[in-house]
Amino acid sequence: MTEHFSTSSFHVFPDNLNYGNTLFGGKLLAEIDCEASKVAKSVIYGTAADNAVTARFEGVDFIAPARQGNLVIMEADLVKLGTTSMTIKVDCYIKIGSNKERWILICSAITIFVALKNGKKFPHGKTMEQN
Ligand SMILES: CC(C)(COP(=O)(O)OP(=O)(O)OC[C@H]1O[C@@H](n2cnc3c(N)ncnc32)[C@H](O)[C@@H]1OP(=O)(O)O)[C@@H](O)C(=O)NCCC(=O)NCCS
Repeated sequence: MTEHFSTSSFHVFPDNLNYGNTLFGGKLLAEIDCEASKVAKSVIYGTAADNAVTARFEGVDFIAPARQGNLVIMEADLVKLGTTSMTIKVDCYIKIGSNKERWILICSAITIFVALKNGKKFPHGKTMEQN
């Protein structure tokens, strides 16, 4: 885990479901993007970059379904830094079992963000050794 680690959660509401009554993938992708952006913003904090945008979603694996009422927990962490890019992994879990709680990995995604200044790509100046 790096110092840029971020975590949050959301409940699956009825309007988050697809036709098969499981969590709609697009909703989860939006949540993943949001969680990863917190890590990207943390990386550029204190640098001359003024924004970070999503450049790529890669290797998104939907592993297991989530259902209405499930609490989806997202954990995002930095895995790689380039000159202007930041590679961030986001794992999503649901908790099941009321007595003995178990976490099930439902989705794992790798996202790439790019640091910007005045709307143009900009070196963030950070290295993994600093984290
Ligand atoms: C992201 C963006 C700034 C990249 O600009 P660009 O001039 O194409 O930049 P480059 O091709 O030189 O890439 C810049 C960096 O991003 C990485 N990158 C850019 N696009 C990428 C992609 N599709 N996949 C992987 N890496 C990518 C490059 O490897 C490079 O990394 P490095 O500086 O660490 O070596 C530009 O494509 C853009 O503005 N896209 C729209 C972003 C957006 O609107 N996102 C949704 C809302 S947040």
